[in-house]
Amino acid sequence: MTDSPVKRVRTRHFDSAKKSGHVITGLTSYDFLTATIFDNAGVDFLLVGDSAANTVFGYDSTVPVTVDELIPLARGVVAGATRALVVADLPFGSYESNADQALSTATRFMKESGVHAVKLEGGQRVAAQISRITGAGIPVMAHIGFTPQSEHGLGGHVVQGRGDSGKALIADGVAVQEAGAFAVVVEMVPTDVATELASLLTIPVIGIGAGNGVDGQVLVWTDLAGLSDGRVPTFVKQYANLRAVLGDAVEKWQSEVRRREFPDASHSFDG
Ligand code: KIV
Repeated sequence: MTDSPVKRVRTRHFDSAKKSGHVITGLTSYDFLTATIFDNAGVDFLLVGDSAANTVFGYDSTVPVTVDELIPLARGVVAGATRALVVADLPFGSYESNADQALSTATRFMKESGVHAVKLEGGQRVAAQISRITGAGIPVMAHIGFTPQSEHGLGGHVVQGRGDSGKALIADGVAVQEAGAFAVVVEMVPTDVATELASLLTIPVIGIGAGNGVDGQVLVWTDLAGLSDGRVPTFVKQYANLRAVLGDAVEKWQSEVRRREFPDASHSFDG
């Protein structure tokens, strides 16, 4: 993120990336092993996303996942990330009531998992929460545009900021910057609106389904790697087909076991 190698990505590196034009990368991670792989690949930040609701727990939305479910996952990711900045999502219901609730949830994540920052969804409506958390020394990544925790309120997975609502989206971006967020994720927003926001804000705008004119990109890793089951969002490009790779490996192992070909002598112990 700078000319010299970065030992640990910090929020100040997000500032310098914005200034230098370095494109920031982020992936979700929910466990130690994937964290080590993504960290070794040089991914700048790892997000212990509340998408764990879908990818780890099999819920049909992010609404049910709890702080108690996410904290152990975050601990595993922190253990695997030696360079990347690790960010944890504050799940639905853990910060909306007021700034005190938001700060106490963020504090739990910092103390019990060791993450370096938290993320929460919403623009102007959560400015007070962002301000209180950052005021206590905890970095906040904001998340505007399509916010999955409000899926039901938004009427499903719908592109945000089209037409006149583009102004409200820009106002949300300005509000979270003024409240102290060090970066903002912008999800499912037309490219021109996201690009305008990135040129207006001094903090990095990280896109997911927001086109190529922003300061960085984040994706759900199981979508990128083709592990997810069923339909993936239109904005996802699959770079591998891990579901097929893993399925093939398991089928081969199982048929060798059933034919008594595995374990063979080279995978067994002499007496
Ligand atoms: O939880 C998550 O995976 C996220 C990404 C969609 C950015 O918030």
